[in-house]
Amino acid sequence: MRRREGGSSLSELSEEWATSARVSTASPAPVARPCPPRLALASNDRRQKGDRLSRDVWDKVREFRAADEARAQGLYPYFRAFERNDGPEAVVDGRQVIMFGSNNYLGLTTHPKVREAASDAIRSLGTSMTGSRFVNGTTQLHHDLEERLADFYGREAALVFTTGYQVNLAVCSALLRDGDVALIDRGVHASTYDGVRLAMAHGARMVRFGHNSAESLDMHLSRLEEGDEGALVIIDGVFSAEGEIAKLDELLSIVRQHGARIMVDDAHGLGMVGPAGKGTAHHHGLGAEVDLIGGTFSKSLASVGGYLVGERAVIDYIRHHAASFMFAASGAPSTVAAAMAALEVMQEEGWRVDSLRENADYMIRELVSLGFEVGPTQTAIVPIYIRDDARTLAVWRELFEEHAIYTNPFVSFSVSPGHSLIRTSYMATHERAHLDRGLEALAIVGKKYGLI
Ligand SMILES: Cc1ncc(COP(=O)(O)O)c(C=O)c1O
Repeated sequence: MRRREGGSSLSELSEEWATSARVSTASPAPVARPCPPRLALASNDRRQKGDRLSRDVWDKVREFRAADEARAQGLYPYFRAFERNDGPEAVVDGRQVIMFGSNNYLGLTTHPKVREAASDAIRSLGTSMTGSRFVNGTTQLHHDLEERLADFYGREAALVFTTGYQVNLAVCSALLRDGDVALIDRGVHASTYDGVRLAMAHGARMVRFGHNSAESLDMHLSRLEEGDEGALVIIDGVFSAEGEIAKLDELLSIVRQHGARIMVDDAHGLGMVGPAGKGTAHHHGLGAEVDLIGGTFSKSLASVGGYLVGERAVIDYIRHHAASFMFAASGAPSTVAAAMAALEVMQEEGWRVDSLRENADYMIRELVSLGFEVGPTQTAIVPIYIRDDARTLAVWRELFEEHAIYTNPFVSFSVSPGHSLIRTSYMATHERAHLDRGLEALAIVGKKYGLI
């Protein structure tokens, strides 16, 4: 990473975070960016203070000014306190807003059955297992949910994790080492990048292929054939900023031609795409073909936690080799019970998946007809591309403060510079009136800022 003298301004910081935390390729124009390990931040020349060599790792902290600058300009959008965030309307910083920025896609966080399951688990098992799955943190609920997930996906086995982030750390760190290569779509989530960095510490290599490009994957896999490295391809099923569905059918056929393995991180796919919300693999009719499917409970399943499904032997290997699984406290019984109840409700109340799709289709159609650039989204994640950090934050503020519409600004902390966007996302429980009020506000703000 290029060293920057004289502290980190908002734009400098944006660049730094984009390279070190997540290297995304907001569609439709992926930008190749280097992804050096975080250690680059602590290079020796950074420590040179005048004639002295500074050993103080706090130096970077003192140079960090971006957040304060944004706060001073009233443009800081993060860590807002929600008093309520349980449906299509929310209360944040005392303001009632229409929620266009939640991952509660199916609206299940307040479903009576889900609430009841969580409360019952607290009443019978307490608030935490205070230990890891491995030794003293597994309950029958964890086993039951694993069985249900395996059934739901029609796979041999499942493993329940404390977060979805840990799933990706676990897969990469357990399965990849010296002599292996992780081939990742360059737009995957930060957790996969971190997982691959762990694998790199064991001697594995990282190769990033072009976003959603079977051609690029084919080229990189072909290059490997000169050696004898093992290859695991990792993609997101639905890309979290862009709302785009992975071209799994094309990618899988390349994976098979080269004898590699593939994992799909379907954090945003579950509940969102595929028959009955089964996700990206089923959307492509490939539910039985993908080697591993990972995901989270923190979106459609209205809880916290993660899961992995696949072949029993592979799941068992990960269970006994992944530090992020073995040495972290297990998901609390209430979170496991809530996820299990939400999975049941999702299957019982099929209208939720249908309604989510209808809302998504409506918003995509209306935003495009207003003239917004929304990229190739096919889901209830609908980005509005602005492509400039400062303007994105200003649009975000205006939507929030003047029109009581809550969205998520993605500036270059989380997407590549030049790809800033307002991420809007919808729920099964949004009514047409919510959507139309939001569209009205977006039209006003879009005109004011020259977006339409
Ligand atoms: C694609 C993707 N993978 C993994 C995760 C991590 O999931 P969790 O929030 O359960 O840690 C997220 C969460 O934002 C995500 O979007």
